[in-house]
Amino acid sequence: MAFTPMMKQYLQIKQNYQDAILFFRLGDFYEMFFDDALTASRELEITLTGREAGEAGRVPMCGVPYHAAGTYISRLTAKGFKVAVCDQIEEAGSGRGIVRREVTRVVTPGTVLEGLEDKRHNFLLAVAGADKEFGLAAADVTTGLLLATQLTGEKAAAMLLDEVARLEPAEVLLAGGNNGDKLAAAVQSRLRTAITTCDAAVFLPDGAGRMLDKHFGPAWAQRFGLHNRPLAVRAAGGLLAYLNRTQKNDLRQFGRIQVYSAGQYMMLDTAARRNLELTASLRDGSRWGTLLWVLDHTLTAMGGRLLKTWIERPLLVAAEINERLDAVAELAGDVFLRDALRRALNGVHDMERLAARVVYGTANARDLLALKGSLAALPAIKSLLAGGRAALFKRMCDEMDEMTDLYRLLQTALNEDPPVSVREGGLIRDGYHSEVDSLRMASRDGKKWLAGLEAAEKERTGIRSLKVGFNKVFGYYLEVTRANLELVPADYIRKQTLANVERFITPELKKLEETILGAEDRLVQLEYRLFTEIREQVAGQVRRIQRTAGAVACVDALYSLAEAAVKGNYVRPQVDDCDRLVVREGRHPVIEQVLARGEFVPNDVRLDDRERLIILTGPNMAGKSTYMRQVALLVLMAQAGSFIPAAQAQIGVVDRIFTRVGASDDLAAGQSTFMVEMSECQTIVSSATRRSLVIMDEVGRGTSTYDGISIARALVEYLVCRVGAKTLFSTHYHELTDLDCLPGVRNYTVKVQEQGEEVVFLRRVLPGRADRSYGIQVARLAGLPAGIVERAREILLALECRRESAENTAVVLETPDAARDGGVRDVPVTAGAVLTELASLNALDITPLEALNFIVRWHEMLTRGDENAVRECRADF
Ligand SMILES: Nc1ncnc2c1ncn2[C@@H]1O[C@H](COP(=O)(O)OP(=O)(O)OP(=O)(O)O)[C@@H](O)[C@H]1O
Ligand SMILES: [Mg+2]
Repeated sequence: MAFTPMMKQYLQIKQNYQDAILFFRLGDFYEMFFDDALTASRELEITLTGREAGEAGRVPMCGVPYHAAGTYISRLTAKGFKVAVCDQIEEAGSGRGIVRREVTRVVTPGTVLEGLEDKRHNFLLAVAGADKEFGLAAADVTTGLLLATQLTGEKAAAMLLDEVARLEPAEVLLAGGNNGDKLAAAVQSRLRTAITTCDAAVFLPDGAGRMLDKHFGPAWAQRFGLHNRPLAVRAAGGLLAYLNRTQKNDLRQFGRIQVYSAGQYMMLDTAARRNLELTASLRDGSRWGTLLWVLDHTLTAMGGRLLKTWIERPLLVAAEINERLDAVAELAGDVFLRDALRRALNGVHDMERLAARVVYGTANARDLLALKGSLAALPAIKSLLAGGRAALFKRMCDEMDEMTDLYRLLQTALNEDPPVSVREGGLIRDGYHSEVDSLRMASRDGKKWLAGLEAAEKERTGIRSLKVGFNKVFGYYLEVTRANLELVPADYIRKQTLANVERFITPELKKLEETILGAEDRLVQLEYRLFTEIREQVAGQVRRIQRTAGAVACVDALYSLAEAAVKGNYVRPQVDDCDRLVVREGRHPVIEQVLARGEFVPNDVRLDDRERLIILTGPNMAGKSTYMRQVALLVLMAQAGSFIPAAQAQIGVVDRIFTRVGASDDLAAGQSTFMVEMSECQTIVSSATRRSLVIMDEVGRGTSTYDGISIARALVEYLVCRVGAKTLFSTHYHELTDLDCLPGVRNYTVKVQEQGEEVVFLRRVLPGRADRSYGIQVARLAGLPAGIVERAREILLALECRRESAENTAVVLETPDAARDGGVRDVPVTAGAVLTELASLNALDITPLEALNFIVRWHEMLTRGDENAVRECRADF
C-alpha cells in the first residue's frame, strides 16, 4: 500500500512509539492519526476528521492547536496515557521534500509538567529487586526532587508497598518479567497508577552505575551515601535511564539524590495513614476533613508540598522535633514576625517548578518574571530569619541565597509585561541590548530617522529640495533635482536617472534602510535568542534556586504550623525520649474544627510504665473512636513538629503508630472484611515494639461474638504481656474489662447519662467500665422504624434474662408470625414484654397502689403466659 510521503514519515516515527499517542506537528496543529485519533477524539472530546493518506484513502485524524497542546497532553496523561510529541525540527521549506520531524519528548503520567496540583508532588517511581530486597527511587521532574531508598528483610515487600502508597506516584516503573508482573499487580491493587514495564537491563548494577556516572559525575556513591545501597543505586539508575529516554533533555534539575532509610522516620503503614486521615479523607479521598486540611496554612506551593511530607513522615529524633517546635514556638509567639513573614512569603512563587521549567526550556518570560518576583522577596525573608532565635531559622537563613546577580539580570533584561509567547517579541527591556534598542527604534522611529537624515543631508549639501524617497526596487534613496546636481557630494552613489531627477544612495542611508526594513522580524528573532540565553543562564543556577526554594519551603511549613497553632489554640508538647504519653485536655484537631466552637469535649490520656494498655468501653456514639484517633493524631502532630490541641502534653517519641480501625473491605486485593482486620492485627503484633503506639478499635467485631471475644482477649494479653506497646483498645465486649487483672491494663469508659429513654453523651473519658452499649437507643436516634426498635428492645431484654436465668425466653427468640407479616406490635406473652413495660413505666408518677396492681398483673402474666393480660396492662398505661 503506497502512502503519501508525509504519512510514510508518520508511520515510521510511530513505529518506535507504539505505547504512546503520537502528537504529529503539522503547521499550527498537532495531529493524531489512525487508532491514536480514535482514542484522542474520545478521551479529549475533539472532533474526529480524516485525511487523505494515499492509496489507503482517508484515515482517521484529529488535532489540537499547538499552543494549547500542553493542556490536552496533561488531560491524556491524567488518564494514564503516554504522549509522544513529534515536532518539526527544521523550518518549513528550508530543504527539499518534507520537513524533518522527530519526537522531542515523551510525556508520561510521571513526567508531565503541566496541569498538576500545586501542593503535591507528582512522582515517577522506579522499583528494582524482588522478594526480600528492593530498591526504590522517586523523581518529581517538576521540582527536581530525587529520592532513593533500599528496603531489605522479611518485611521488605510490605514496606515497599507502604512507601509506594505514601508517595502516591503517578507512574511506576518496573522491570518486565515474572517478578515485575507480581509487583505490578500488588501495586495496582492498592492504588490507581500507571505502570510502565521496561527492559530489566537498565536496573542491572552495571547499567545503573554507568547511568549515575554519566549524570552525576564520579564519586556519587560517597556524595549521596549510596555505597552500601546497591538496590537503591539500581532503582535510581533505571529511573534516570527512563527519564533520559523520554525527556530527551539534560535533566539538570536533578542535582542530587536524597537517600533515606526506613528507620529515619516514623513508620506509618498504609492502614494507619488512611485511618488517621492524614492527607486524604476516608470518605472521598479529598483534603477536606484531614489533618493536612487543618494544618495547611502554607503560602507557597513548595511549602505546601513540604508540609504534606512532614505530616506523612513524622520524625523520630527528639532533638530534631524540638528544633522544629522551637521555630514554631517563636513564630506562634510573635504576631509581628508572623505577619511580616506572611507578607514576604506571599510574593514567592513556585520556585522549584519554575526552575524545572527553566531547565526544560519551557519557561516563558512570565515565568522568569515570577522567578524574579520570588527573588525580590528573599532579602525580607532572610532578614526576618536572621533576627530570629530558633536554630532552624539560622540554618534556613544560611541556606537561602538572595541571588542578587540573577535578580539583577532578570530585572535589567526583561520587560515588565511580556506576552505569553516567547516568539512575538516584547520580552527584552529597553537598554539591555543595544541592537534590540536600535531595532526597536528602527521599527518605531524609522520615519523620524529618515527625516533627520534628510535634514542633515540638506544642511550638508545645501540642496534645499533634497528629499528621501522609497521604491520597491531600490529601497530608500536620496532624490536630487537636475538643477542641483553639481552640489551632490562625492560619496553619493548614483542609482537611477529619471527625466528631472537623479536618485542616489549613501552607505549611511543603506544602513538605515537595513535597520528599518525587517527590523520587526529581526527584533523578534533577536529577542528570542537573547531570552533563551538568559533562560540558559538561569538554568545554570538551578542548584542555587533549588536550595533556596527548599529553605523557603521549610520556613513556609513552619509558618503554617505556627498559624495553625494560633488559630487552633494549640500548645507546645514536651517531646523527649521518655516512655510516657500524657496529654491533659486533648482535642481531636479535625473534629473540633467541624463542630461549633466550644462543643468539643477535651479528654486526658495517660500511658506510662504503669498504665500500658487502656481498654476503652462505652456506648455506641459515645466517642471511643474519636478519642483513640485523637491520641494517635496528637502524637503524630507532635513528632511532625507541630503544636497540638491540648492544655498540656508530654510525649515520649514513638517509633511507629499502628491502627486497626473500622471495617474496610479490600475486595480488590482479594481480602474479605474480616480477613483485612486479621491481617492488620497480624502486622501489628509482629511489628510493634515497646516504643510503638497501637490503636485497636473494636477488633473482633467482624465475626461471631464468641470468636470475636476470644480473639480480642488473646490480642490484649499478647500486646500487654509480650509486646508492651502503648495501646488503646476499644470494645463493646464488656467481658474484656476483667482483663484489668493483668499488670498495665486499665479500664476507661466514655461516660453517658441516662435520662429515661434517652442517653445523653457526655464525651468524657474516665476510669471505669461500661456495662451497656445503648445500641438500641442509638438505633432509635438514627431513625430506625419504631417497630424494629421496640422489637429489638424486647429481644435484648429476653437475651439478658436468659443470661440471668437461662429459661423462659425461648418463646421470644422464635420469630413471631406477626413479625414475619411485617408487624411487630402483637408479640406473644414473654418475660421480655413485661420487662419492656416495666422499663417504660414512669415509676414516680404512679401511686403505691397502682404499683402493687402492676406487680400482681405482671406476676400473673409471667405465671400464666396470658396474652390478654398484657393487652389489659398496656391499656392502663
Ligand atoms: N470529645 C468529643 N466532643 C464532642 N463530640 C464528640 C467527642 N467525641 C466524639 N464526638 C462526636 O460523637 C460522634 C461519635 O463518636 P465516635 O464515632 O467516636 O463514637 P464511638 O464511641 O466510637 O461509637 P461506636 O461504638 O458506634 O463506634 C463523633 O462523630 C463526634 O461528632
Ligand atoms: Mg467507634
